[in-house]
Amino acid sequence: MSDQTQNNVVFFSGENVPLEMHKARMVQRVRLLDVDKRLEVITQAGNNTFLLPNRDVFLDMLTDSGVNAMSEAQYAAMMLADDSYAGSETFYRLEKSVQDFFGTEYFLPAHQGRACENILATAYVKPGLKVITNYHFTTTKGHITRQGGEVLEVVGPEALKTTSQNLFKGDVDLDLLDQFVQKHGPEKIAFVRIEAGTNLIGGQPISLANTRRVAEYCKSHKLKLVYDASLLADNLYFIKTREAAYKNKSLAEIVKELGSLMDIIYFSGRKLGCARGGGIATSNKEDYLKMRDLVPLFEGFLTYGGMSVREMEAMSVGLRETLDFHVISQTPIFVEALGQELQKKGVPVVTPFGGLGCHVDASSFVDHVPQTQYPAGALAAAIYLTSGVRGMERGTLSEQRNPDGSEVLAQMELVRLAVPKRVYTLSQMKYVADRLGWLYQHRKMIGGLEFIEEPKTLRFFLGRLKPVGDWQEKLVAAFKKDMPTGL
Ligand SMILES: Cc1ncc(COP(=O)(O)O)c(C=O)c1O
Repeated sequence: MSDQTQNNVVFFSGENVPLEMHKARMVQRVRLLDVDKRLEVITQAGNNTFLLPNRDVFLDMLTDSGVNAMSEAQYAAMMLADDSYAGSETFYRLEKSVQDFFGTEYFLPAHQGRACENILATAYVKPGLKVITNYHFTTTKGHITRQGGEVLEVVGPEALKTTSQNLFKGDVDLDLLDQFVQKHGPEKIAFVRIEAGTNLIGGQPISLANTRRVAEYCKSHKLKLVYDASLLADNLYFIKTREAAYKNKSLAEIVKELGSLMDIIYFSGRKLGCARGGGIATSNKEDYLKMRDLVPLFEGFLTYGGMSVREMEAMSVGLRETLDFHVISQTPIFVEALGQELQKKGVPVVTPFGGLGCHVDASSFVDHVPQTQYPAGALAAAIYLTSGVRGMERGTLSEQRNPDGSEVLAQMELVRLAVPKRVYTLSQMKYVADRLGWLYQHRKMIGGLEFIEEPKTLRFFLGRLKPVGDWQEKLVAAFKKDMPTGL
């Protein structure tokens, strides 16, 4: 399963082309609205790309969550699903897949990644406790702070630089980890959390060597180590291709090694396994029992955990397919291809290229927009206006205000153009780069945004904003001058 044909095909022309090792046999029609209509639509959506109806989106690059293409084997498996409230055969198949994949003993199903986080936080986080992590994720932090806990981050300084030579920007700074443990004492640490493919800093991987050192540290300080494996597929690709010690190890061996280092693993099955669901795996019976009773309370009975059995079957197959190099390489090689096209046009992007998507550096793209006017949010709205492409703000808008109402200014202002696995073509990536290239030349026309409706928690999902001034109308007029069809 893990041959690397793709990497061994060299184009005679010398071009670097991300060659697909699959073909599409089912397709979905998309439509591209003209720029006047796009202005209407983004205004109705409160300039929040989460609120755009998908029918008005040309290329949906919001996320890879639940929207990766599934394989024929996954669809076939869905037909075999055993629908039963309790004791479904489907559950035992999924449990076996998870055991085979991570090498863990127990499995708890949950309807998606954040549901696992809710269970974990409810079980282990109490007011005043800390969770130390390489970098937070929005929903993870939401669940930890909801229980009265605090999140402390321990990535190194390179992680927050948009351009760097560091191939593993998700690595934990062990000195910083130790400083926090010494300062607060191990009894105040609910757990240490490692996030594979660090989402909010540009899909940046953590090396297995670093993961191993963190695990050793946690063991010697009696700290529980939790692995968020939602973005493991991309991280796995980078361990295999960037970490010399693992070049000749099979993907299955690498995942087993990772699994053996953790006390608890959880994942969003909307990402890992290319279906829709989630789950928690552990070999520790005490941890299993501590979390087990929360599953029927929050999710559903222990043998489905809020998931559809059809999705569970697809996830079982999807986990096995994660051990196929050509499946896990798909996002990283397309991210690189898109990133290189963008760089040719001068567009600032996060480097080294990571997984998950191409991350545009909004703090440089629109350096004239103050952080309090949400530069990444404004850029995401401007990208939709000029291309019909839906990206996601990952900056100050995605932060939560301090209790006193002041803004938490994000350490990075990014627009993520997610590249779901096996969904888009190279010509579509070229279109994205072309339109962003145009926008970059007109970047000074982009202005800020301000809230008109601001939810208290996870405001980026449902908040509504308006442009500061009439920059959007002016941008549309400039676009029509260069693209008279408005498309
Ligand atoms: C690293 C990480 N953890 C957790 C989650 C939450 O998963 P879900 O969206 O399935 O709730 C996500 C989703 O994007 C994620 O990227």
